[in-house]
Amino acid sequence: MTTAVCQTTPLEWWRHLETFNISHQVGFLLENPLDHLPGYFLPWEKLGKNAAQLMASRKLRSEVYKLPLLDFHLLNGQEEYCLAHTLLATIAHCFVWQDNDIPKILPKAVAIPWFHISQYLGLNPVYCYLDCVLAMGRKVDPNRELDLSNLEVICPAPGSPHTDWFSLVLIQVELDFAKGIQDIVDIYDSMDSEDERRLILGLKGIENTVRRMQQTTTRMYERLDPAVFYNVLRPFYEGWGAHSKLLPEGLIFEGISDTPLQFVGGSAAQSSTIQVLDAVLGVEHSEDADRYLKQIREYMPAGHREFLYTVETGPSLKTYVQQSQHDGVKTAYNQCLKALVDFRTSHLLVAVDYVLKPSQNKEERQHHSAQGTGGTNFVSFLKSTRGRTVRSVLQLDGDTPVVNKELNINT
Ligand code: HEM
Repeated sequence: MTTAVCQTTPLEWWRHLETFNISHQVGFLLENPLDHLPGYFLPWEKLGKNAAQLMASRKLRSEVYKLPLLDFHLLNGQEEYCLAHTLLATIAHCFVWQDNDIPKILPKAVAIPWFHISQYLGLNPVYCYLDCVLAMGRKVDPNRELDLSNLEVICPAPGSPHTDWFSLVLIQVELDFAKGIQDIVDIYDSMDSEDERRLILGLKGIENTVRRMQQTTTRMYERLDPAVFYNVLRPFYEGWGAHSKLLPEGLIFEGISDTPLQFVGGSAAQSSTIQVLDAVLGVEHSEDADRYLKQIREYMPAGHREFLYTVETGPSLKTYVQQSQHDGVKTAYNQCLKALVDFRTSHLLVAVDYVLKPSQNKEERQHHSAQGTGGTNFVSFLKSTRGRTVRSVLQLDGDTPVVNKELNINT
């Protein structure tokens, strides 16, 4: 069973975003995330929403053993499936990471429905970006606009309310991206009609979008303490399998598989936004980085994964720009790439402050690693994606070449 996404690739994909579950208003976010499931699923809802608290008092695991096996077939529609995924993901991660005595088997009352719900959504059964961002935010005041000043989380993770800020900032980044969706549509439409004036306006819109996303990303510092992120939220996001120090053999899903399953943990790298921008602008990554970026698409909802493939295999903006006789087109295209380089520079510095620096603290080093939750050796990986973005900038006559300035990061 899979969710309703398009079966055939539309020729002009930019006119059919809804078939990929992408909204003109909120982009990749779920348009109407639910706060509640039907009454039958109350045991999931009660436990999921209180899981973080129960985990803190070491009482979550015993509650999971009492949970009844509910029939997930009684869920109805994408929104209910998404909320169910988030609730069960929160329960499962709190169950696994409650204390140092880590269980090897996830009980069937969680394992069976969570596995099938994940299949329906085209996701893996692990806490992923859908859970902490795409289906996580609701308006505080329904009559006001949806933005960072009017957002709260639906299902708290450990460290809440401090750690909520991580999800809320990312929701705002997704909203920033959503504001640029019409520009993407305009870019492809104007290539079709060879309207270069409109193309330039679309590219300028994308540049502004990326700059907004960068500004929002740096707002992480306002309310999220790196030590809380590193010691509380990150261990909860952790997946299981070869990349995991604590559960290297993986996790057995009772009633699903006697062989342990292995999945990497939640990471903002699972946001489709930056991968779409790479695909639109034609940024090509190194073989290693590309392999990782393709692998994490398995942690994106099926429609969004399909969308990325469609953009990559459709008409090429880069080729169009390279062949254009209009310098303004080339300049506007380069400005988008420069904004993306700046985004990646800021983001790398945020990741250093929130992961690398706390990991260099002597005590922390014994418990956690400086790996990303996505399982990467992240500093060289993030330097590489940034470096390849720099390399994509076109050399124009009379322009000073863009240099890949080495960032001085003490690993
Ligand atoms: C506290 C804030 C953040 C931290 C600590 C952080 C950390 C990381 C780390 C360690 C990686 C490497 C992949 C992994 O193993 O997980 C990564 C990748 C990535 N992150 Fe973040 N991140 C943060 C915020 C954000 C935000 C706000 C975005 C915006 C969408 C974002 C987007 C990405 C992307 C797209 C990648 C893939 C690499 C690339 O395309 O250049 N991250 N991040």
